[in-house]
Amino acid sequence: MSENKPWGGRFSEQTDKFVEEFTESVSFDKELAEVDIKQSIAHTKTLLKAKVLTEDEAQKIIDGLYSILEDIKKGNFEWKREVEDVHMNVERELTNRIGRVGGKLHTARSRNDQVATDFRLYLKGQIKEIIGLLKALRKALTQKAEETPDIIVSGYTHLQKAQPIRLAHWFLAYREMFIRDTQRFLDTYRRLDASPLGCGALAGVDFPLDRFYTARNLGFSRVTRNSLSATADRDFALEFLNACNITMLHLSRLAEDLIIWASEEFGYVDLPDKLCTGSSIMPNKKNPDVLELIRGKTGRVLGDYVALSTVLKGLPMAYNRDLQEDKEPVFDAVRTLKGSLIGMRKIIEGLKPKRERMEENAGNLTLATDLANYLVQKGVPFREAHQIVGKLVSYVLQKGKRMEDLSLEELKEFSSLFGEDALLLLKPSVVADRRATYGGTAKKEIKRQIGNALKEDF
Ligand code: ARG
Repeated sequence: MSENKPWGGRFSEQTDKFVEEFTESVSFDKELAEVDIKQSIAHTKTLLKAKVLTEDEAQKIIDGLYSILEDIKKGNFEWKREVEDVHMNVERELTNRIGRVGGKLHTARSRNDQVATDFRLYLKGQIKEIIGLLKALRKALTQKAEETPDIIVSGYTHLQKAQPIRLAHWFLAYREMFIRDTQRFLDTYRRLDASPLGCGALAGVDFPLDRFYTARNLGFSRVTRNSLSATADRDFALEFLNACNITMLHLSRLAEDLIIWASEEFGYVDLPDKLCTGSSIMPNKKNPDVLELIRGKTGRVLGDYVALSTVLKGLPMAYNRDLQEDKEPVFDAVRTLKGSLIGMRKIIEGLKPKRERMEENAGNLTLATDLANYLVQKGVPFREAHQIVGKLVSYVLQKGKRMEDLSLEELKEFSSLFGEDALLLLKPSVVADRRATYGGTAKKEIKRQIGNALKEDF
C-alpha cells in the first residue's frame, strides 16, 4: 500500500520515482497557488452553507489556508515534487497544520473542477493586466500621433513608396490593431467568466452545493452549465493564446517597421540609446535588440497556441491528464506578451522621428497619383490619365529629376490639360491633405481621429 499518496488506499506498490518526476506539475503550477487558495476558501464556505462542515471546522480550514498563503507569499513554503501538484501540496500542508479536519476540505470536489476553476481565475487576473498594458501602449501611440500631426512620411505598399501620409496616421494605424486585440481579450474574458466549481470529477457532486453562491464568492459572473463540458473544456485557454498570438503578430509588424526605419538606409527614426544594445566586436553598432526579440518571441507564442491546440485535438470526453499540458504554454505566453508590450511601449515613448529624412523621401514619384487625378478632374478617363502620368514618371526617372522640379512646360508636353494649379499639387503635404475621406490621412481627418483616440477609454 502506498501510504503517502491521497489515492494510496487502492494501490499495492509505491509510485515509481520516474513516474513522480514525469507526472509532477508543481514545479510550474505553483503559479496558481494564490487562486487555488482563494478557491479553497470559497469552497469551504459553500461546504458550510451545505452543512457539510460545522462553523468551527470551516473556520479552522480557512485560517489554515490563510496562514499557508502568507507563507507562500513570503517565499517560506517548501513545494514538494513528490506531492505532485499545487492542489495537493496546499492540501497536505493544511492537514499538517490543522490536523485531521484538513482532510475535509476536498469533500465534494475533484481536482478536475478545481484546476479548471483555478485556471479561469488566473486568466481573469492576467487578462486584466494585459488589457492595462495594451492601454498604456495605445496611449503612447496616441501621444506620438498628437506630437507629430505635421510630419509627412511616405506610405508604403509592397515596401515600395506609395503615397505620402501623415506620420500620425501610421501611429494611429497600429493603435487600431491594439484596439482590436483589446476587444479580443475582453471577449475572451467574458466567455471564460464562469465558475466550474461543483462539477466534481465529471458528473457533478452528491452534496447540496450552491454553485451560484461559490461563483459569487469567487467573483465569477456565471456558473458553467454542463459538468462534463466544464471539466473537459480548455477552449478558454486556447482563445486566450490566440489573442496573445495575434497581439504578438501585431507587435512583430510594428517591430519590423521600426527596425527598418532605424536602419541607416532609411534613417526615419532614432531609437533611444537606453533601449538599444551594442556589439561586442563592432564599435559602430547600435542594435535594435528589444525590437528584434519582440519579433523573434512571436514565434514562441504561436508555438504555445499550436501546442495547446494539439493537446485538445481528439481528446475524449471528459478530463484527461493531457490537460495538465495546458499550463506551461499559457504561462510562457503571458510572460512573453507582457514583456513585449512593456518593451514596445518604452520604445514608442522614446522614439524620435527624423522629419527631414522622412519628408525628403515622401515626395517625388509618390505624387504621381494626384497628377493623374488632376487630369481625371479635367475629364480624362482614369485609365488614360494613368498612362499619361506613367510616361511622365519614366521621363522624370530618365532625366534624373524629381517630380517637384517639373515646370509647367514639361507637364504640358504630356498633356495640354495641365495648368498652373497642377504645380501646386507637387507637394507631399498638399497631396496628403487631399485624402480627406473618413479614416484618411488629411490633417483635418487625423486631428479628428486623434481627438477620438484621446476620448476613448477602455
Ligand atoms: N495537475 C492536474 C492538471 O493540471 C490536476 C488535475 C489532476 N486530475 C486528475 N484526475 N489526475 O490537470
